[in-house]
Amino acid sequence: MAFFFGDKMNYQHIFHAGNAADVLKHLVLLGVLRALARKATPFLYLDTHAGGGLYDLNAAAALKTAEFQTGIGRLWATREAANVPPLVEDYLNIVAARNPHGTLRTYPGSPLFAQAVARSDDQLILFEQAAEVCNYLKALCADDPRVSAHNSDGYAALKAFLPPRTRKRGVVLIDPPFEDRNEFTRVGEALIGAVERWPTGIFLVWYPITAQSEDAQLLARLRASGLRKILSVEWCWHGCRLPKGMNGSGMLIVNPPWQFEREMDTLLQWLHPQLAPDARAGKVQVQWCVPE
Ligand SMILES: C[S@@+](CC[C@H](N)C(=O)[O-])C[C@H]1O[C@@H](n2cnc3c(N)ncnc32)[C@H](O)[C@@H]1O
Repeated sequence: MAFFFGDKMNYQHIFHAGNAADVLKHLVLLGVLRALARKATPFLYLDTHAGGGLYDLNAAAALKTAEFQTGIGRLWATREAANVPPLVEDYLNIVAARNPHGTLRTYPGSPLFAQAVARSDDQLILFEQAAEVCNYLKALCADDPRVSAHNSDGYAALKAFLPPRTRKRGVVLIDPPFEDRNEFTRVGEALIGAVERWPTGIFLVWYPITAQSEDAQLLARLRASGLRKILSVEWCWHGCRLPKGMNGSGMLIVNPPWQFEREMDTLLQWLHPQLAPDARAGKVQVQWCVPE
């Protein structure tokens, strides 16, 4: 089976699948999905930038950057540890289900984490703009009647699909590649519009933290927007604001589940020393960007 998509496209998540940023994103996503699944009423999962769904960590592209080795690679090694938080255990079990022989070879993307939590009456709607990637995703989910995958623009989908007609509760994941210089602006506008259309939905946005501080501008834009209840979970595994590359990443959570900030703080305090290259450098931060 191949999970590597041709080299005609610009952004390819295979180069980054399972890295420390993916680990943070998928742990936060899983925490939110589990909170939704605690209530019997069915939920909707809408993924605006779904990717291919499953990644081959032995593919040349994955091995070229080897980013997964300092993300899921390090976390995988903690499976037998005594003090693994329940959310991490849950996450590792989902990864393990895709690696039944016990060796880490594949890494599930956001749609598969959602699929693992979804009950029979929950619904997953996925959007992926790269046709080849979307075809792979469609094939992966073809047997699951809860899932529909669309080869279209995830930002446009927020306008077309919200508020949802079929479910009253749910979560939207906005996880763009951030390769376009306008992506931060686009994300901010899309998020504000989407929350206005569906004020009770939970919204998750992944963002990179770099020296350019565009993340800080996004947070300032959201503070000025009038939106309420926005939690930010940030993790810099090197020192923050190093001049080059990605220093860390964050997740915005609009309308987080009750006491989610506590769960995230406990999680990150545990995660950082496990994964950071130097546990004394870098930092974790869970804070209300805008409180209730
Ligand atoms: C960061 S990856 C997604 C990873 C995935 N959410 C996960 O966690 O496994 C971003 C994906 O968005 C796709 N993409 C880029 N622009 C898009 C758009 N406007 N609408 C939908 N998908 C887009 C890219 O092809 C890429 O597969």
